[in-house]
Amino acid sequence: MDSSNQTQNFIVRELLESDYTQISAICAKVYPTERPYTDPELAEHHRLFPEGQFVAIHQPTGSVAGVHFTLMIWLAHFHIDDPWDVLTAKGTFADHDPTGHTLYGADLFVDPAYQHHGLGRKLTKAAQQLTCSKKLWRMVGGSRLPGYHKVSKKISADEYVRKVKLGELIDPALTVHLHDGWEPITAIQGYLPHDTESEGWAAVIQWINPTCPPPLNWEISKVPHKK
Ligand SMILES: CC(C)(COP(=O)(O)OP(=O)(O)OC[C@H]1O[C@@H](n2cnc3c(N)ncnc32)[C@H](O)[C@@H]1OP(=O)(O)O)[C@@H](O)C(=O)NCCC(=O)NCCS
Repeated sequence: MDSSNQTQNFIVRELLESDYTQISAICAKVYPTERPYTDPELAEHHRLFPEGQFVAIHQPTGSVAGVHFTLMIWLAHFHIDDPWDVLTAKGTFADHDPTGHTLYGADLFVDPAYQHHGLGRKLTKAAQQLTCSKKLWRMVGGSRLPGYHKVSKKISADEYVRKVKLGELIDPALTVHLHDGWEPITAIQGYLPHDTESEGWAAVIQWINPTCPPPLNWEISKVPHKK
């Protein structure tokens, strides 16, 4: 479906202080097992990297409809299976490194009232444009696998990711990311330990900037595991 008509009522802009309360409320709805962002955390993300904090606004009402929070890192300073807590310095974004060549997509969520309107895609495109304008090599993220618990007794998480990639299975998060141009790299355990729907699993996903791809010796497959 062409989502451009559906998204015409929405704009994407930088995070503002007046968004904080609505963002925390949406966060509590979409991640019932996680602690929502606090005002000081959101203020700190904005202070560290304002142009990486995207907010979609429903223009007719002025409501916050969704967010995409990002930070810049050197992926070589991390392990491929590091959890969200490590990649975000416990949610503070204190590890944001303006010299890094990877834009890490720390969070993307859309208010359930506005889901399936193309906003996930619009927010993803905004971050991809930032990746290009900053001449970064790639975006990397950890996609939740909220459909995995339904089949986890039958297939491994890697097999699940493979089947979602082939379109044999649909996952409410990973399928969206794949439709938006991301490539799955590997399944990892413990990314968000409280994510019961995903049983703690996630898929490392990558989007290569076609105008500034990483040099061969920086291939994501060479980023080591923790052990
Ligand atoms: C994942 C999420 C951000 C998607 O946002 P969204 O605005 O509903 O997504 P979009 O409308 O932009 O959809 C993008 C693509 O995914 C497809 N899609 C959306 N929801 C889907 C679903 N449940 N199953 C399969 N495909 C889906 C759309 O059809 C579209 O692809 P297409 O245009 O090629 O058909 C949203 O569902 C969400 O906030 N979920 C809860 C939080 C979360 O898990 N975030 C992801 C963290 S990794």
